[in-house]
Amino acid sequence: MSTIQFIRNFIKDRDVASITPTSARCVKKVCNHIDFSKDLLIVEYGPGDGVFSRYLLKRMTPDSRLIMLESNADFVRHLKDTIDDSRAEVYNVMAGDVMEVLGAEDVGKVDYVISGIPFSFLKPVRKMKLLESTREILRPGGKFLAYQTSKHLLKPVERVFGNVETEFEFLNIPPYFIYEVVKNGA
Ligand SMILES: C[S@@+](CC[C@H](N)C(=O)[O-])C[C@H]1O[C@@H](n2cnc3c(N)ncnc32)[C@H](O)[C@@H]1O
Repeated sequence: MSTIQFIRNFIKDRDVASITPTSARCVKKVCNHIDFSKDLLIVEYGPGDGVFSRYLLKRMTPDSRLIMLESNADFVRHLKDTIDDSRAEVYNVMAGDVMEVLGAEDVGKVDYVISGIPFSFLKPVRKMKLLESTREILRPGGKFLAYQTSKHLLKPVERVFGNVETEFEFLNIPPYFIYEVVKNGA
């Protein structure tokens, strides 16, 4: 997607929350937390124009799957038009609908949830509900990887998952805090 198209989506839709796609350096830094040697089930919240999705699909095994949940219809159209890969599924839904999108057989089996959605825009109840659903869909040992403009998500994540580590990537517009959260327990 061209920069102009991305900026147009940013202007039309406040949930886009970023004027430009995530930098290659930041994508790599987030995805360094992923072990691509195994077959994976990855869920992505807010893929936008697919900068993470493409990086993931390049590295995933042939039997891995990527499920993308994107609220913006223009991005969904772009993803469907440009990603021709049987491992990828794109849904024009809110991340909060993840339990409805995933079949019962996939709940509790997800290896990684990657999220770029602006959690700070969500009302507290919806934010907590989404974090709880995210915990529920992950397998034990699975990871929630999020990139956010601030540390506002630390406390909610701590409450739901009981752990969190952050890194900072300043070479991005905007600079991001990268959250790495593990689903502990059985
Ligand atoms: C900051 S952009 C990140 C886009 C892309 N992943 C990237 O790294 O460049 C946030 C994306 O999340 C989408 N989004 C925002 N809120 C969402 C929600 N509740 N559910 C699904 N997608 C959402 C926006 O439309 C946008 O594509």
